[in-house]
This record gives sequence, C-alpha cells and structure tokens, in this order.
Amino acid sequence: MTALMTTNLGATPLLGRGKVRDLYAVNGDLLLVATDRISAFDYVLGSGIPDKGKILTQISLFWFDLLKDLVPNHLITADVREFPAALRVYAGQLEGRSMLVKRAAMFPVECVARGYLAGSGWKEYRTAGSVCGIRLPAGLQDGSRLPEPIFTPATKAEGGTHDENISFSAVEKQLGAAQSAELRDLTLAIYSRAAAHAKTCGLILADTKFEFGKTAEGVILADEVLTPDSSRFWDGNTWKPGGAQPSFDKQFVRDYLEEIRWNKQAPAPALPDVVVERTRAKYLEAFRRLTGRDIGA
Ligand SMILES: Nc1ncnc2c1ncn2[C@@H]1O[C@H](COP(=O)(O)OP(=O)(O)OP(=O)(O)O)[C@@H](O)[C@H]1O
Ligand SMILES: [Mg+2]
Repeated sequence: MTALMTTNLGATPLLGRGKVRDLYAVNGDLLLVATDRISAFDYVLGSGIPDKGKILTQISLFWFDLLKDLVPNHLITADVREFPAALRVYAGQLEGRSMLVKRAAMFPVECVARGYLAGSGWKEYRTAGSVCGIRLPAGLQDGSRLPEPIFTPATKAEGGTHDENISFSAVEKQLGAAQSAELRDLTLAIYSRAAAHAKTCGLILADTKFEFGKTAEGVILADEVLTPDSSRFWDGNTWKPGGAQPSFDKQFVRDYLEEIRWNKQAPAPALPDVVVERTRAKYLEAFRRLTGRDIGA
C-alpha cells in the first residue's frame, strides 16, 4: 500500500497545490485531486495516509448528494470515464480521488458554522465571551454545545497562514447585506442537515467550513464539504466538555507528534507505520459510519 503524495498530469495546467489537494485547469473547468497528504499543526507531514484522498473525496460526494435539494454544488462528475480524453490516461492517479467541477467566482469568506465550542471559537470565547462578535452565555467550556448553531465567518488566508475570524458586519461590508444573509442562512441550513445526519451515525459535527462561489446560475457550494479535513467530527460516546476533545481522525498523529516533541517547525516529520495504519483505519471508519457502506479502497 502506497500513499499518493503528489500528482503529475503531464501538460494539464497546474493551478496550485494546497496542503492536501492538487488543482488543475481543464478547459473552463477545474479538476480537484485529493492526494494522500496529511497535515497537522498547519504542516504537511513527511508521510501520507494511503487512500486518504479517495476516502475524503467519497465523503464529499456523499454529502453533495445528500444536500443537493438544499443547495446546488460545483460537481460536474467524479467518474474518470467522463473526464476529457487527455485526462483519462492518468486514471491511475485520478480514480476515486478527483472531481471535475464548475469553476466559480469564489466568495472571499470561509463560511463556518459552529454547534460546539472548540479551537479558535473557544479561544475567542475565553478572552471575549463572544465568537465573531456573537455574545454567548457565560460558563461554557472547551467542547460545550452552544445554545444554537452560529455562523462564524473567517477571512480566507493566503498560502497556509491562519484564517482570521471576522464579524458578520465585516462580511456585510464586503459582500452587502443580502448576499451575506444568503451565505449565512445556507451555511446554517447545511450545518443543521449534516449535524442531524452525523448524529444518527453516533458522531457529533462540532463545526465545519464551507466555501461558496458564484456562477451564471447563482450561488453554489464548492470546494470539499463535511470531510474530516474541513470539519471537526467527535465521537458522540466520548464527548466530554472541559478540555480539547479527541480528534476523530488525527488523534494518533497528534499524539505521536507530541510524544516526539516536534517543535512544529519545518521540516515536518514522517510517521511510523503503526500511526499511519491506525489513522487510515479512522478515515475508513469515518466513511463507513457516515455513509453506511465500505469504500472498497
Ligand atoms: N468550484 C470552484 N471554483 C473555483 N475555485 C474553487 C472551487 N472549488 C474550490 N475552489 C478553490 O480551490 C482552492 C483549493 O485549494 P486547497 O483547499 O486545496 O488549498 P488551499 O486552500 O490553498 O490550502 P489548504 O490546503 O490549507 O486548504 C481553494 O482556493 C478553493 O477556494
Ligand atoms: Mg482550502
């Protein structure tokens, strides 16, 4: 079993490589290819997780389908046989892990919904008693459930730097009141539907990030959706507010990096086989629990 760390599609114009995905231009459309790279503490690690890109792509596809009556999305096809002929020769790299999508004019806002306090939300609450300017009741803990889900937008930071939480009025200044309200309402509606589904699988969807774009047909849901890379999933059985919750997918990785006392600076270390194996099993478990089927990867 090997991990696909980087793709090479010959003359296909490469638009960029994110921490996890490689992005290509295909005629007027985009090709998103999820590799097996894994990041922790904002660094891509020296080892990949075999099939992670396939599992995450299949999770996104599952959600696009589950949400399609709520919001249109950017997917054209994830079936390599329907890709332009020039791409089909790369099927070995693309199968299961790529999506041909409509290119949209992306809104410059990360649309985050939170149903629970964690990460930057918890940090801001601890010092300000609010998140993105939304006042919250006193006495909440790290991991607490919020009285109701909230929209906590963030700026889209360039190249690996940290996103910054912003207030809804800052979004309104940039996009106007009507457009901002539309993105907020969509974000919360999708979160509710997804959190309800996750609950039936014994999972808590603590928070998640969406990216929307605009095409001639209107606003569409783009990027990846509701994957462990864009969301915090917690195991409903072990959830216990009062400290950082175990990460569903990356806990073995984080524990290992703490254990070797990595200084969280480049170069990021590689992972021992046992950590890779256990982490792979968690991604497969996430897929199986969310979709009720096996991936066959
Ligand atoms: N349908 C689409 N049309 C146009 N751009 C899109 C579409 N879907 C996703 N994108 C953009 O493609 C890019 C995907 O990059 P990717 O998320 O892999 O890396 P990144 O955001 O640069 O870094 P990171 O790995 O930290 O997320 C993002 O900028 C995203 O906004
Ligand atoms: Mg991204």
